[in-house]
Amino acid sequence: MSKLAVLGGEPIRAEPWPAWPDVREQDVEAVAAALRTGHWWQHEGEETGRFEEEFASYQDACRGIAVNSGSTALQVALEALGVGPGDEVIVPAYTFQATAMSVIQVNAVPVFADVEPKTMNISPDSVASLITDRTRSVIPVHLAGLPADIDRLRELAGAHGVPILEDAAQAHGGVRRGRKVGAIGDAGAFSFQASKNLCAGEGGIVLTDDNGIAARAAALRNCGRVEGGPFYQHHTLGYSFRMTEMQGALLRSRLAHLEAETQRRWENGRFLTRRISPLPGLEPLDPPPAEEDRRAYHLYPVRLRSEELGGITRERFMEALRAEGVPCMAGYERPVYQTPAFLEQSFKPRGCPISCAHYRGAINYREVSCPAAEEMCNQVIWLFHSLLLASKEEMKDIARAFEKVAIGHRDLVAATT
Ligand SMILES: Cc1ncc(COP(=O)(O)O)c(C=O)c1O
Repeated sequence: MSKLAVLGGEPIRAEPWPAWPDVREQDVEAVAAALRTGHWWQHEGEETGRFEEEFASYQDACRGIAVNSGSTALQVALEALGVGPGDEVIVPAYTFQATAMSVIQVNAVPVFADVEPKTMNISPDSVASLITDRTRSVIPVHLAGLPADIDRLRELAGAHGVPILEDAAQAHGGVRRGRKVGAIGDAGAFSFQASKNLCAGEGGIVLTDDNGIAARAAALRNCGRVEGGPFYQHHTLGYSFRMTEMQGALLRSRLAHLEAETQRRWENGRFLTRRISPLPGLEPLDPPPAEEDRRAYHLYPVRLRSEELGGITRERFMEALRAEGVPCMAGYERPVYQTPAFLEQSFKPRGCPISCAHYRGAINYREVSCPAAEEMCNQVIWLFHSLLLASKEEMKDIARAFEKVAIGHRDLVAATT
């Protein structure tokens, strides 16, 4: 094996990887055309409404309600499900903060479940141990595009009459048992923020098969207006969480490529897993798919077992990978319950929602412990999805770089000490 690039050797690769977002002429044209109409919001234009229909249909859902971010999609969906003060919502400990903060936004209390060590997704066993008569929803996250075990969760939550809200911010195009994610549960929330597999800089959508949830969500995102009702009649609390027509047009244009891109990432991701799994100290968190499953690969996560590689640190391993030409990152470095906002319980004024008079439970986030989530935060390396849009030949560069660093780890550890 040749000398590691981080120690002065030749890198495996010097060429750039596919950019994300990639700017296509047809996207520019779509946005320009929306601009030229002079109808810049959904109230007057057609692009956002069409996108809602097209994306819902692509994800096997009946209804789509476009909003301005994934975070507000979660918030609107929770409110549309009737979650509010005094309620608990079970969320995974290993996720982006918005999954839990959306619960706080509606004045309810997030309860953290641990994740499964092989998938990084919420553990149904952990959820089962946390359901109480205060639980009003469970939010599985399809983390890194891997569909969570919704069937098991539906069984568990359904027995208590608790609805499931899918956080599908990382899972556009993901399929579980032949059905796309998003409305397998009672509702789903997606993000179209710039890093996401379908993106418009910012944006989000709520999907559901339930007309009641859809109508409530539509009113919530649009100042409490009822769909088709008079403009200045506001029937409920609502927000200005609308998507612009320029975003709608851009998303429609990019949606045309999503299926082919998702399939390409899928084939490349499975290829990488076959190549990286046999290497010492490296465990792709990419379990074998059941029939008719398709992971959406927003991220490609690999767990580093440093004890099998001479105690090499994750930082040093990543530095060596980057030097070989493979960009990577550590991802979430602490579970959400250990972020300062949760440690300080610094949320709404006067201690709400924790010390809210409606809340009958007791929670102290400093006492929460989710060992599997904590391990993920310390051990996982993420590759970004745009790498998986390169050719099969280029996937071999990624595999070769992992192999070179894993096999050369002794030189690396020796050079560090
Ligand atoms: C799992 C998860 N949930 C929610 C969100 C929130 O989406 P947004 O950034 O569009 O508010 C994100 C995006 O980063 C996410 O990754």
